[in-house]
Amino acid sequence: MKAARRWGAASAGVLVALAVGLLGQTQAAAAPVSGPSPTVVGGTNAAQGEFPWMTRLSMGCGAAVIAPRVVLTAAHCVRPTGAYTGYTATINRANLTNTSVGQSIRSTYVYRSPLYSSTGTYDWALIELASAANVPLLSIANQGETSLNSGSFTIMGWGATYEGGPQSSTLKKATVPFVSDATCAQAYRELAPATEICAGYPQGGVDTCQGDSGGPMVKRATTGEWREVGIVSYGLGCARAGYPGVYAEVQALSNAIKARISSSGTVIR
Ligand code: ARG
Repeated sequence: MKAARRWGAASAGVLVALAVGLLGQTQAAAAPVSGPSPTVVGGTNAAQGEFPWMTRLSMGCGAAVIAPRVVLTAAHCVRPTGAYTGYTATINRANLTNTSVGQSIRSTYVYRSPLYSSTGTYDWALIELASAANVPLLSIANQGETSLNSGSFTIMGWGATYEGGPQSSTLKKATVPFVSDATCAQAYRELAPATEICAGYPQGGVDTCQGDSGGPMVKRATTGEWREVGIVSYGLGCARAGYPGVYAEVQALSNAIKARISSSGTVIR
């Protein structure tokens, strides 16, 4: 599924729109999918404050606050590494039209994984914020913490609620099961199993979709706190049977991510 990777890697809105247009031409429009839970595709509204670290980025991606002045997102969402003040991060505002809650903070710097390539692997980036977010931080999986790679995960975002659909003004959440690398590689020949993790139902119906990229896939630890195990990266269409969502695998990237965050919670230049 070379094309799937290309769509996932498209960073410009125009490219995404083009890709979606091409998809609509070359393949039958997706039939309405009925899934195990109502997204995201197949999701329900998240409550205000339920995921306080959840962030919407102005270029149309998701992200999570992992240090006072740092959000973690997908590399394919951002421009190359360097100073940049053109992004706005909207934090802890489940309904984006409700400006009486949450915060809106400008970016100051972008760090894009230097290993990120057009093949779509190492799809992670950091955005430094102009001021500290006043929310609890989302804890990321530790390097080698593969024990988190099982069971089911919570996905969320303001992305399309059906393939080809518009963005959502309200934050949606859904639950999806872990998919093994062996099974996922049957759908995506280009899967990089060491650094990517898949999730979704065999029959589809529940998934992240365009505009959810960069957002966190999380799992509740035994201690009750949320841990980030994946970063929304790519998929063929959305919620299709046999095509799970593919996520950057945070446990495999954790040391590299942490190495770019200073003790004061900013991005190391
Ligand atoms: N690349 C998409 C974006 O830019 C996210 C795709 C996720 N797709 C999926 N089927 N899980 O928002």
